[in-house]
Amino acid sequence: MRSSSSIYDFAAWTQLIPESEIRRLLRYNVRYYFAGGKPGKIPIEAMAKILIEIGQEQLGMLEEGRYEEALEQYNYGPTEGIPALREVLAKRMKEKDGIEVDPGDLVITSGSQQALYAILDTLIDKGDVIMVSSPAYLGFVMPAVKLGARIVIVPSDREGIIPEYIDEAFEAAVKELGKKPEILYLIPDSNNPTGSTLPEKRRKQVFDICAEKEILIIEDAAYREMQFTESRLPPLKAYDRDNQYVAYIRSSSKEAAPLRIGYILVPTPVREQVIKAKGYYDLCSSTLVQYILARYYSKYIDKYLPEILAEYKKRCDALKKAMDESFPTGWRTDPTGGFFIWWESERKDFDSKRFLEEVALKNDIIYVPSRAFYPPTGYQYDPSSRKLSPSCPKSNGMRLCFVYKPPEVLTEGALKLGRLLSQHLS
Ligand SMILES: Cc1ncc(COP(=O)(O)O)c(C=O)c1O
Repeated sequence: MRSSSSIYDFAAWTQLIPESEIRRLLRYNVRYYFAGGKPGKIPIEAMAKILIEIGQEQLGMLEEGRYEEALEQYNYGPTEGIPALREVLAKRMKEKDGIEVDPGDLVITSGSQQALYAILDTLIDKGDVIMVSSPAYLGFVMPAVKLGARIVIVPSDREGIIPEYIDEAFEAAVKELGKKPEILYLIPDSNNPTGSTLPEKRRKQVFDICAEKEILIIEDAAYREMQFTESRLPPLKAYDRDNQYVAYIRSSSKEAAPLRIGYILVPTPVREQVIKAKGYYDLCSSTLVQYILARYYSKYIDKYLPEILAEYKKRCDALKKAMDESFPTGWRTDPTGGFFIWWESERKDFDSKRFLEEVALKNDIIYVPSRAFYPPTGYQYDPSSRKLSPSCPKSNGMRLCFVYKPPEVLTEGALKLGRLLSQHLS
């Protein structure tokens, strides 16, 4: 009898792209959980109140014979999202980010993941070139590889991408790959996986370089609301006054529970194609969920979010302290928001994936090994030779999530992990 998988003629990409390492690690249930970026605080009280409020209003509509009005809240809606939500989000973008936005220009997506995919799907043909910083969010990189893009890694330091190397990597790609890179993907606020935030000066430099070279910046601002500091740095989108060079991608998942709503402000021609693509992916995002979220952003977020952020900061500080006390020689980032911290051993031969499987998991500890954040294929720009070379994943680091577990568990787990690492690496 034939094995069941040979019955199906799968697309070539299914052989090329492995299951996401992060999704695989999400399945583990261990005490010291530093792996997937799962929110540890969700405004459940606010969500429950909103459900009651909306339910009561709908019952009122039924009693008053306004069935059609209630029906619309449950029905299919516009592919680009319901106006009520887009208005609330545009207002908040103006207040918090200083971006003047016509609500009609926003597009609601089913998670920002869908927006990333739709943008790639509408712009990328086989062989096109995309630049990313490294280590990178593979939720972006893998769909790009799936669609046939060639990835060029631009060197970063602890603060994020190094602007002058964008220019140099661009020139090297034109020369060696015979193609101009058309997209640069970045997470300027509390990067996933490093947790670093791109300084203001670099933001402007990155924007100016990309505008000059006509590269579309995909600014993934998934952690924009997750900042521990009073003020936020301007998004790159704020420099893009003519809405030409920055696709600004926002998510509600980190602050408002995974209701699976993303929202984007992108150049108009890209917007039109993204709406067309989304129409074929899911017709529209859930209308009822959009009503729930509109109420959360208009009425509850400023009451509930500060408390959540204060707790996340406490968790982040607890993890940093325990790492500084117990981890062997290496370096870590210093997040001012987001969900993650990044650590690298000074020993380049350290294999964090092997250590996870052979030591950490047996001690009830899980994290994501650094190798999970490097593309399986692609190139990296080497500043010393000014050339591209095959991408070379680093195996000596790890991403640790600090938001899911309470501070005492993070401290206990990090001290234990630090002891085990020190024994292993001594
Ligand atoms: C940087 C980044 N972008 C996008 C996403 C996708 O988020 P969602 O689809 O929940 O909006 C994530 C989720 O972890 C992320 O970390």
